[in-house]
Amino acid sequence: MSMKLPFFKNKQTELHEDLESDNIPDHVAIIMDGNGRWAKKRGLPRIAGHKEGINSVNKVVRAANQYNVKVLTLYAFSTENWKRPKSEIEFLMKLPKEFLHIYLPELMENNVRIDTIGDFDALPQHTKKAVQYAKDKTKNNNGLLLNFALNYGSRLEIMRAIKQIMSDIDCSKISIDSLDEKIFSEYLYTQGLSDPDLLIRTSGEQRLSNFLLWQLAYTEFWFTDVLWPDFDEVIFKEALYEYQQRKRRYGGI
Ligand code: IPE
Ligand code: IPE
Ligand code: MG
Repeated sequence: MSMKLPFFKNKQTELHEDLESDNIPDHVAIIMDGNGRWAKKRGLPRIAGHKEGINSVNKVVRAANQYNVKVLTLYAFSTENWKRPKSEIEFLMKLPKEFLHIYLPELMENNVRIDTIGDFDALPQHTKKAVQYAKDKTKNNNGLLLNFALNYGSRLEIMRAIKQIMSDIDCSKISIDSLDEKIFSEYLYTQGLSDPDLLIRTSGEQRLSNFLLWQLAYTEFWFTDVLWPDFDEVIFKEALYEYQQRKRRYGGI
């Protein structure tokens, strides 16, 4: 016998409220997680989840643009992801080209600039070529900065900064006394960018997985169980809405 279930309003449908346009995070960072589990749930190979994830990237870029977010940093491949099976890594390394092939015209049209953080040189030649082409092509765009963390690891980034600083001290480019948080930040991959205001991680995991350890010191965190391939503009809006309810104190009162 079938029974009528009570109608539960889903959280998203309650979000009729408009966002406050003067309290949009300038910089949103996202740990795009759960592609493998999304595929597994459907009896598909993990790579099917990665491929589907491309569309979520486009949806969130569109939404970020619409809400006037300035910087969107997306964690696409970590320095620890090299531990994965070779075939999965090879697939992941082809994804930037695939994404850009489909979406670069729209990104150009929307004035989006593409950049990366991470150890770019260590990427396969074909990946570098596709991404460098998009960086060059979009370099004069002054809309949303779409910043891919590609072969990125925060500890690697910090170690690299320390080595560079020591070398610059050695050759008297800077002095130990002048070194402060601001100067240190300039040695990170994120030089010139403001710290993320909001960090989103999908798939229910609540950890940083070596992402932006320095930069997230005062960032607001928002976690969702939604798997990355199911992420869309509605969930993004929910994250921005939740962000707008937060009271940021930075240690003050
Ligand atoms: C995120 O999805 C994409 C990358 C880390 C490259 P995962 O591949 O980590 O998916 P899960 O976490 O195994 O479900
Ligand atoms: C973090 O996800 C890296 C990216 C999203 C690119 P992982 O799936 O690699 O993180 P862990 O292994 O669950 O911590
Ligand atoms: Mg994962």
